[in-house]
Amino acid sequence: MNTPIAGAPRRVVVGVSGATGTALAVRTLQLLGAAGVERHLVVSPAARRTAAYEMPDARLERDAEVVHSFRDIGASIASGSYPVDAMIVIPCSVKTLGAIAAGVSENLLVRAADVTLKERRRLVLCVRETPLHLGHLRAMVTATEIGAIIAPPMPAFYSMPESLDDVVDHIVARALSLIGVHVPGAPPWQGEPASAARTARDGAQSQAGSAGPAGSSLPESGRPSR
Ligand SMILES: Cc1cc2nc3c(=O)[nH]c(=O)nc-3n(C[C@H](O)[C@H](O)[C@H](O)COP(=O)(O)O)c2cc1C
Repeated sequence: MNTPIAGAPRRVVVGVSGATGTALAVRTLQLLGAAGVERHLVVSPAARRTAAYEMPDARLERDAEVVHSFRDIGASIASGSYPVDAMIVIPCSVKTLGAIAAGVSENLLVRAADVTLKERRRLVLCVRETPLHLGHLRAMVTATEIGAIIAPPMPAFYSMPESLDDVVDHIVARALSLIGVHVPGAPPWQGEPASAARTARDGAQSQAGSAGPAGSSLPESGRPSR
């Protein structure tokens, strides 16, 4: 159902809605910029309110090449004819999730998401709410059925985070990998140490006789390095 991604994106829309998690939006914009991606930003009024509360010093606009007004439903990204590779909504409120699932494009953020879906481009929704009622879950199902990827910003503990920044980085790196942006320093999990060693051994055996060292690039342990 989801469109395959054709390499690294060059232009991405970043939608920021009013769920908690301004730090996720800040980091997403920074990492996209570091990857050389052109960033189109749409921020909802509720997101600005949440940001003022959580991160008063956050300057989301500073980390975007193009900043669109939430109400500008005539902006470039409101049209499918404007070439964009993917869109990520981070964080995504359940209100915005519901509007996207229902196709109620009454603001630019939802319109751009709707366009992303109709053009069969990648749309990642980092939906943040807890607990979830059946309506939220149904909206997630509908959004998935029409082509979105639901990627809630959930921490992983196997990466042994030492700070909130580590948690944020891990969540954002996973979300960006869904649109083809691979963050340096966030390598894929290689398996637990025992299975990583097994994989290295198997690799060495299967490559025996062929040119080049086998398994030499595997990390000592399966723990992703940071
Ligand atoms: C500090 C704060 C935290 C919030 N956290 C969440 C949240 O985690 N998830 C959510 O769905 N809504 C949350 N809300 C409520 C949304 O901001 C509200 O439903 C808003 O209408 C969403 O609008 P938007 O989707 O257009 O940004 C929060 C609001 C505030 C002020």
